Amino acid sequence: MSRHPRSASPRTARHASGPRSAGRRPAARRPTRPTDPRHLAVVLLGEILPADEQGRSLREALGEVRDGLSPADRGLVSDLCFGVCRHYRLLDHWLDSAMDKPLKPSARGVRLALLCGLYELWFTERPAHAVVNAYPDLCRTLNAPWAAGLSNALLRKAGRTEIDEVRAALPVAIACSLPDWLWQQWCADWGDDQATAMARASIVPAPMTLRGNRLHGDAAALAQRLEAAGLPHHAGSLAPYAFYLDEAVPVNAVPGFNDGVFSVQDEAAQLPAELIDAPDDGRLLDACAAPGGKTGQLAERFPGATLIALDNDAARLDRVRSNLARLGANATVLAGDAVVPSAWWDGTPFDAILLDAPCSATGILRRQPDVKWHRRATDLPTLAGLQARMLDALWPLIRPGGLLVYATCSTLTQENAAQVSAFLARQGDARDDTAQVSGDVAVQAGAQWLPREGGHDGFYLARLRKAD
Ligand SMILES: C[S@@+](CC[C@H](N)C(=O)[O-])C[C@H]1O[C@@H](n2cnc3c(N)ncnc32)[C@H](O)[C@@H]1O
Repeated sequence: MSRHPRSASPRTARHASGPRSAGRRPAARRPTRPTDPRHLAVVLLGEILPADEQGRSLREALGEVRDGLSPADRGLVSDLCFGVCRHYRLLDHWLDSAMDKPLKPSARGVRLALLCGLYELWFTERPAHAVVNAYPDLCRTLNAPWAAGLSNALLRKAGRTEIDEVRAALPVAIACSLPDWLWQQWCADWGDDQATAMARASIVPAPMTLRGNRLHGDAAALAQRLEAAGLPHHAGSLAPYAFYLDEAVPVNAVPGFNDGVFSVQDEAAQLPAELIDAPDDGRLLDACAAPGGKTGQLAERFPGATLIALDNDAARLDRVRSNLARLGANATVLAGDAVVPSAWWDGTPFDAILLDAPCSATGILRRQPDVKWHRRATDLPTLAGLQARMLDALWPLIRPGGLLVYATCSTLTQENAAQVSAFLARQGDARDDTAQVSGDVAVQAGAQWLPREGGHDGFYLARLRKAD
């Protein structure tokens, strides 16, 4: 099996893969991009999943080429990149087992092209003959005419293979394309059965979930707007303004999207802002705000509050501003380090703080499948250390009786319940006040949700109340 790429550094970790900036190649130095979508996908995958160096983020790579592509080509490039990242280990494993002689490391482009072909054959509805015929030409375009026959033979063989039967006989970590360290950690944290369910849920694309803006009507009225726009949906069961669309659509097909009537946000990710409790005209801090999903939700829930949106990534704060502008909402947007409040805090206590901390993002692998190959076990102590420093630094900023909601899109106890338990042990004036929600699994503090096929992401939150 080829080597999987090394992980991103937690120093730059967002809730996404947060690639190490040293691993990013500046856009200006990149050669002209191919126009053929399959060729372009192979080039991008070479940057996202390089054999032996730091890969770049999938979303960032796609974002760079999106504008120059027709909608159909954009869809194909995106599907190939997401699909190969999602099923990388399974595809790679089958390829190695199907070849008499291993591919040389220098044939990385050919390998990635073959992985794209396997993905298309097994996980898309595209006609098999069209897929098989596309790849010999692609091999020639990749200056590997020697691989044209190989591609033809391998993809024909794959077309005769029942991949579900193959998967059933493989270890879960290969069948569901997880790195071993993460599979082992899930088993240790949640037991084998729960870990298997999480692994399966994490390779199924996430549904499109919306958050309705309560300033534009109650949940029934918002559901009516979706109905009128011909968008079949059902309401969430956890968050009061969550709607699952039966089929994903482009955001501009969502009624009133540009006017802030709806936002795209996972249902579990809607919970932390719902648990914020503060006076209508209170002072709120969103301490890790970018790109502003939860800032917008806080502005919808507390339109009369003083809301401060902080993030240490000044570039990403532009996305907070544009999110707020789309919603027609106001907040003070600050660039600053949550661990060093003395640099940006004016000394006036907050009624409530939302800390949506940088984390391993192991709850959103179905949305960001490159994270599986960019993250590694050794990142966890660094991430947990940063989260603890953030909790300790922000706690003194809360008024007596106020609260802090700690949230991550992680499925790992170390970043979640164990993190919060340790915080509660350090801070004598803090108590766990998460009682109004219960997650999917019992945890020692806060509430934990695990990723659910067709449902919410993996997510954790704890509402921490300061003594009066
Ligand atoms: C999970 S994301 C936040 C997502 C956001 N709350 C939302 O709902 O759209 C974590 C954020 O923490 C930011 N961050 C990381 N380290 C930070 C620090 N020391 N101080 C402030 N923000 C930080 C990252 O830039 C990233 O935007």
